Order: sequence, then structure tokens, then C-alpha cells
Amino acid sequence: MVIFGASGDLTKRKLFPALYSLAARQLLPEKFGVVGVARTEESDDEFRERMKAAVQEFGRDDFREEVWQGLADGMHYVAGTADDGDEVFKHIDDALAGLDRDRGTGGNRVYYLAVPPSAFETIVEGIGKHRPSEGWTRLIVEKPFGHDLQSAQELNALLHRHFDETEIFRIDHYLGKETVQNMLAPRFANGIFEPIWNRQFIDHIQITVAETLGIEGRADYYEHAGAIRDIFQNHLLQLIALTAMEPPIDFTADSIRNEKVKVLKAMHTPGPKHVVRGQYGRGYIEGQEVPGYREEEGVDPSSMTETFVAAKLFVDNWRWADTPIYVRAGKRLARRETTIAIHFKRAPHPPFEEAAAEGLRPNVLLIHIQPDEGVSLAIGAKVPGQGLQIRTVHMDFLYGGAFRTDLPEAYERLLVDCMRGDASLFTREDEVIEQWQLVDAIVAFWRRDRPTFPNYAAGTWGPPSSDELLGRDGRAWRRH
Ligand code: BG6
Repeated sequence: MVIFGASGDLTKRKLFPALYSLAARQLLPEKFGVVGVARTEESDDEFRERMKAAVQEFGRDDFREEVWQGLADGMHYVAGTADDGDEVFKHIDDALAGLDRDRGTGGNRVYYLAVPPSAFETIVEGIGKHRPSEGWTRLIVEKPFGHDLQSAQELNALLHRHFDETEIFRIDHYLGKETVQNMLAPRFANGIFEPIWNRQFIDHIQITVAETLGIEGRADYYEHAGAIRDIFQNHLLQLIALTAMEPPIDFTADSIRNEKVKVLKAMHTPGPKHVVRGQYGRGYIEGQEVPGYREEEGVDPSSMTETFVAAKLFVDNWRWADTPIYVRAGKRLARRETTIAIHFKRAPHPPFEEAAAEGLRPNVLLIHIQPDEGVSLAIGAKVPGQGLQIRTVHMDFLYGGAFRTDLPEAYERLLVDCMRGDASLFTREDEVIEQWQLVDAIVAFWRRDRPTFPNYAAGTWGPPSSDELLGRDGRAWRRH
């Protein structure tokens, strides 16, 4: 595996801790080695030491020297950038030839682009020219995959100059999350949900991707991305696709992605009134005062970048016509939570109406993607005692309780899948295109007006317009 961007945050926080956890579980191939490539001058040993410290700090497993040593023995470092021309690729080739010889990696290559998009072109051209003649070559591309439809198309064209679509693995790390994969289990592994998974029984769906974190020193990136490109374009739209897709004919990469892309194609562009945006001002997160977005380091003090987006969306097909899907995503919200809430229609005949203590609420199937991973079903039940009082109670499945094992990190699953050549959990070209088409349409009407920012305080649930979006339909965001 060759990691471009080896001195970056992703390599330190996610990639090496994931490789370590895989090694600790013997899930890495025996014949494996890593070459880190970055601008910083450092030796193989310095690279190993730096990554060891990263695994100790960010890993989810106890650190064991013998596991680390097995990984470290196959680690090399090459200093340079693609701008150094062919020279840097010659060094990479030498390191890889050494690994083929010493570790028996047989010319198989995974190239990981953990660099800003501006560096993609020279790297991809370089890899293309230096592909070995034997073994397979795969390319993992980190987000952001383009900035808009046009740049995504250009990027696809660049990748296709050297790689076949089956060799390209576009990361959306949400798809690697255990709980996101579990989205398919309630529907397709249980007979009872599928018959009611449609407009006849479902009133609406709410998807929330809420973070308490701010932008974590990533102003350079975030100022140009905003919530719509950072979360909505990828993670949120993928969650919609998984929730709304038809059953695939099998669980191969293409069958799953064929169904997801149909959902994305069926989503019509929301009107301006159906999308709201916000930006956080000062406020409190867990009792601590935090600065407003415009006061964050590196952010333009009059920035118009949105840190919150909410929308009312529709999937125009036979299953979902007229069923609103309300989504919201934001930074510095009141709580960290990613949930998908399926709100079922009210019971058709309400004999218990008067008996309901707090109003008999419709059933909700709540899928907790994170934290407190699990699934919970809200149902009405009789309060024990005299008379007949009804209250909403929850039937819960919690991963921690049911399986008594830690959930793997998304990157562990994704790295192994790529090495095995399984692209089911990666985004295909046509999905990315559909995602950008929707985002471009929203961004286009955003250009026409200038909202008053900031419009929500850090530590709240976003701007009032987000509540109004549902309020106009006589609905409300799920209570927290
Ligand atoms: C990333 C975004 O894709 O996802 C970040 O760029 C965000 O802004 C992160 O914080 C959230 O991921 P997770 O796994 O912590 O929910």
C-alpha cells in the first residue's frame, strides 16, 4: 500500500490505527507492506516512530509491541511530492520492488490518495506511468471528490485515463461504518419490515447528522466546502440511498450500487423554500464557551460558508412518492448524533386517544448510527395500574449489549475490502455524478440571496428556519 499524504492528519488518526487493528486481528494479508509518501524529509525509522506514536494515541486496541513490529518491518518512507517529477516515483518503485522481494507482495498495489485534490493530477499521472506489469493495481481516492459536477467529471476523466472503474475506490467513510451496513439488515434480513417500508405505512423520514465539533483547524478546506459539500453531498445522500433503495438482486458491488443510484436519480431538486442553511455563532458546548464560526482561525470574518444545512427531499418513485425525507447536518450542534428515524403513519382508528397520557405518538423506528449504536422501536403501551393509560415505550437493540464486542472503525473495513477487490462500500462514478447534480442545483439558488449569518448559537439545534421547515408541514424534528 502506498499512502500519498503520509504526514497528514488522516494517515495519523485513521489509516495507521486501522492498519494496526487489522494486524492485531490477523486480518491483514501476510504479504503486506506500506510505503508512506509526503513532503517532509524523514527516514524510514522516523516514519515508523511517528506512526507508532499515532497508533498509541488514536488506536482502539491496546498496543502490543510484537503486533506493531510485524507491521513496522514492512514500512518505508519516501520524501517528495509529485511535483518533483519522475524522481519521486523512481524512489517509490525502488521501495515497492524491495517489498515485492522481501514480503512477496507480487506486484499488487493499493495507492491511497490522502492528499488535497490539487495534488491528484500529477500523482495519478505518475502512478499510471509506473504501474507494474504484473499483479493488480487499485486506487483509493479520499473525499472531497470534486467541488461541483464539472470538477468531479474532470476528476473521473483523469482517473479513467489510467484506471478502469473497477480499480477506482472512492471513499465515503460512512459506508464503512458497521451501523450503516446494518441499515440493510432490518429490511432485507427480516420479513416484517419490507412490506411496510413504503409510502403506504411511512409518514416521513428524518435523518440527522449532528456534530458538536467545530471545524477542527480545517478552515482552508471548510471555507470552500461548507456543510453541503462536506456532509450532505456524500454521507447524507448515501444514507438516503441506503434507506430508500429497492432490494438488490444479490449483494455484489454492482447490484447494490445499481439500486442506490436509482434512488439518487429519482430525487428531484428541492425548491429554495425546502433547503435552509445556517452558520454558528458563539455559544456553549458541554458547558464550555466556544467561538463562532467567523471567529475560528483562518475563517474570513464575514464568511458566508454554511455550517448547517437542512432540507426536505423527495424520492420520486412508486415506493416513496409524496413521502418527505427531512435531513439536517451541522457542526457545533447540541449533541453528537447520527440517526435515521422512520416515522410511521398514525394508527388508523384511535380508540385510545383519550387514554394517551402524553398523546399517543406514531411508531418510530430509530436507527442509531452513532453514538449508542443500535436500533429502537417506539410503540404505545399500557401504563400498569387501574384504568387504561397509554404511553410510548421503546424496544431497544444495542450493539454493545447484544454482541459484547467493539465495533470496528470504518477504515478497517474499507481498507480490507479494497485489498480484496470488493467495491460494494465505495461510491461508483454514476452515484457521485448524481450527488453533485443535486448539490449544484441547491448551490445555484443559494447564490441569489445572502442570509444573515450567524443564525444559530453553538450548542443549539440549528437556525429557527430548520424547525419551520417541518413546522409548515405540521411536523417537528424528533425530540432529543
Ligand atoms: C468527514 C467530514 O467526512 O466526516 C468531517 O469531512 C466530519 O467534517 C466527519 O467531522 C464526521 O465523521 P464521523 O465518522 O466522526 O461521523
